[in-house]
Amino acid sequence: MGELLKVDKIKTEFQTDKGPVTSVDEVSFDLKEGETICLVGESGCGKSVTSLSIMHLLDRNGSVTEGSIRFEDKDLAHASEAKMRKIRGNDISMIFQEPMTSLNPVLTIGDQLTEGIRLHMNYSRADARSYAIEMLKKVGIPRAEGIIDEYPHKLSGGMRQRVMIAMALSCKPKLLIADEPTTALDVTIQAQILKLMKKLREESNTAIILITHDLGVVAEMADKVAVMYAGQVVEETDVYTLFDNPKHPYTLGLMKSIPHITNPDDMRLNSIPGSVPSARNMPKGCRFYDRCPHAMKRCLAEKPELKPIEDKQAHSIRCFLYEEEEKNYEKKHAEKQHAEKEVSS
Ligand SMILES: Nc1ncnc2c1ncn2[C@@H]1O[C@H](COP(=O)(O)OP(=O)(O)OP(=O)(O)O)[C@@H](O)[C@H]1O
Ligand SMILES: [Mg+2]
Repeated sequence: MGELLKVDKIKTEFQTDKGPVTSVDEVSFDLKEGETICLVGESGCGKSVTSLSIMHLLDRNGSVTEGSIRFEDKDLAHASEAKMRKIRGNDISMIFQEPMTSLNPVLTIGDQLTEGIRLHMNYSRADARSYAIEMLKKVGIPRAEGIIDEYPHKLSGGMRQRVMIAMALSCKPKLLIADEPTTALDVTIQAQILKLMKKLREESNTAIILITHDLGVVAEMADKVAVMYAGQVVEETDVYTLFDNPKHPYTLGLMKSIPHITNPDDMRLNSIPGSVPSARNMPKGCRFYDRCPHAMKRCLAEKPELKPIEDKQAHSIRCFLYEEEEKNYEKKHAEKQHAEKEVSS
């Protein structure tokens, strides 16, 4: 699997009336072709801003001020709008958290769906129309042959979301960014959409960045997971390790809902007492300090970096606890060796 995307220490800032705020700070992760990463974390931690930063679709007052975003051989952080327009909807497509505003009210569903299909897949008008109908059926739209000629306002919110999903999947992108794609949909449709995303991944080797609050979806879809807190990645690892051996105290807090795994309807992230620090008033040390049951003195003053904790495993964590643990282990190991040497001599 070749490397497709490399997000390296990006920082995203918004200019506001009260001065600049940093919503995403040193976020890094990478993605190979066909691989799925899930971004999880509480509301406001920067998941949507991270994906909008990659797509160059931030609100006007926002920009990526540091770091790099490489997609294949292209530098997206510094790409022109013309270049981005070519990449969006062709190589990278996105399903938005707020889909209502993303459909053009004066064009029919068919016009909007077939435009992309014709442009990117070189289909004739008739072929594009039948392919669009096929896609609408795949996302669970009943009477797709009739719906294709309707205007968006005739459709319910859930149906519009499914049209957006059909649109994002129809061009078989190399990277799909899906921001809470199924939250507003009922469970049957949700399962259908996840199945469709899996199929796309198998058939077209599409890589996926999936933002979700649902641990059931994480377990079903993710190869790896990045846990975000207050604009930063605090833990990143493969999905098995995340469920078996989560390390960061924040991840451990979120995963407390795991005992409910026996109840598949209740796989939402656990809520943790306390609240996220404000972007305007970030602590000097660890951002989770106030809510962390294991906080130590150094966490207040020093800023933890995202670091791999074990050599062999791709498991990174932004926490001093494990550094201390490793240090203690090394110390104890040295003491033990020393004692053994003394006994044998
Ligand atoms: N245009 C903007 N101007 C100022 N701040 C913004 C702007 N857009 C987003 N933010 C801030 O950036 C932070 C991260 O927001 P983001 O939407 O990425 O959160 P999220 O993790 O996607 O949350 P949710 O789970 O609720 O969707 C929030 O504090 C938000 O208020
Ligand atoms: Mg969001």
